[in-house]
Amino acid sequence: MEDQKPDKSRIAVVLGTRPEIVKLAYVIRGLGPSATVIHTGQHYDFDLSASFLETFGIEEPSLFLGVGGMSRAGQIGAAVTSLGEVFADTSPRAVVVQGDTNTTMAGAIAANANEIPIVHVEAGLRSRDRRMPEEHNRVVTDHLSDLLCAPTEVSRANLLVEGVDPERILVTGNTVVEAVQRLMPSEAERLRLAASHGLEPNRYVLSTFHRPENVDDPDRFSLILRQLSAMPFPVLLPLHPRSRKKAAAFGLTDEMGSLRVVDPLGYGDFLGLSAESAFLVSDSGGVQEESSIYKRPVVVVRRSTERPEVLGTFARLVEPAAIAATVEDWLSDVSAVHQSLAQLPSPYGDGSTSDLIVQAIHGLIEDA
Ligand code: UD1
Ligand code: UDP
Repeated sequence: MEDQKPDKSRIAVVLGTRPEIVKLAYVIRGLGPSATVIHTGQHYDFDLSASFLETFGIEEPSLFLGVGGMSRAGQIGAAVTSLGEVFADTSPRAVVVQGDTNTTMAGAIAANANEIPIVHVEAGLRSRDRRMPEEHNRVVTDHLSDLLCAPTEVSRANLLVEGVDPERILVTGNTVVEAVQRLMPSEAERLRLAASHGLEPNRYVLSTFHRPENVDDPDRFSLILRQLSAMPFPVLLPLHPRSRKKAAAFGLTDEMGSLRVVDPLGYGDFLGLSAESAFLVSDSGGVQEESSIYKRPVVVVRRSTERPEVLGTFARLVEPAAIAATVEDWLSDVSAVHQSLAQLPSPYGDGSTSDLIVQAIHGLIEDA
């Protein structure tokens, strides 16, 4: 019989951070042996990278570029150079990138420089906030991409306003839905998890912070920590390495005294603890989407959001000074809020997004 070894250079999937692994996991699985995973190394700690690759059963990436911990320009430059060389050597039929990180944009630029078709998963999100590096990463990536997988009609409309050819856009839902569906622990496991952190179901807050607008500014970060200390329930705070470093540099350890600060959690544990929490307080993009799947309210501490689909239902956008007041106003009867959110569908689809994207990638390659 002829050797059926897959041609591993066919489709390059570029990732580098925690949320990219979560949201590309089932696209990689769907592509099967034709996917070559390239990790830029933007995230390099076990808790943010290897733990997630393991959880999703993504075998060791074929390349790990090591661009973590650099300045934004240094990181983008190094990743474009290395990826450009890899693409020139291996000529993949398409390059898949996800989201809005430095890795995302570098993958798109390197593919464009090698005239390789680009697939952007989670295209068309816009905060219209030019202070965020992610907003620039999104815009550049979208305009370079050949297949733009927009999670919702809102993101499709954003692209049309910017003059993107409608033929390049496909509304797909968001791949995070299948990640949550498949990794959410059972109820018994969730209760065990909460108990292992000394927490009672529906009577604790889960919080994450890592955006530069919040944690790179000592006054703003300190205010957030003080507002979290005024919550009506205990607060579990798995701390992103960026935030841990900034808190140490700004001398904010005392302000964390009443919070339960832990290392970043594995994905299943984080989902399980999210689903049993009273509510979340976060500046994460992915958490805003996930809240609509496990049906818990999230107080989003940001100046802007690129995810308006959940505003007014699962999420409220607030300034740091308004965290405690928003909780008092919105979440004083938390079980009533849970009951009303339980009735609402997620705007991000039904869990078939990755399959749809894989089909569309095959279509793109066949047409090319
Ligand atoms: C990056 C993305 C952000 C995304 C987030 C997901 C950009 C511009 N930002 O932000 O959009 O929401 O990932 O978590 O691409 N560090 C470690 N260990 C690690 C990774 C980072 O210690 O494994 C520290 C380093 O000091 C590094 C800092 O965190 O300089 C920031 O890391 P970086 O990847 O630049 O940005 P994030 O804040 O993680
Ligand atoms: N997450 C996790 N453990 C944690 C904190 C977050 O598994 O301790 C997951 C979360 O469920 C979501 C993703 O990490 O899927 C979001 O990553 P992050 O907030 O770092 O990035 P963003 O979504 O803001 O780009």
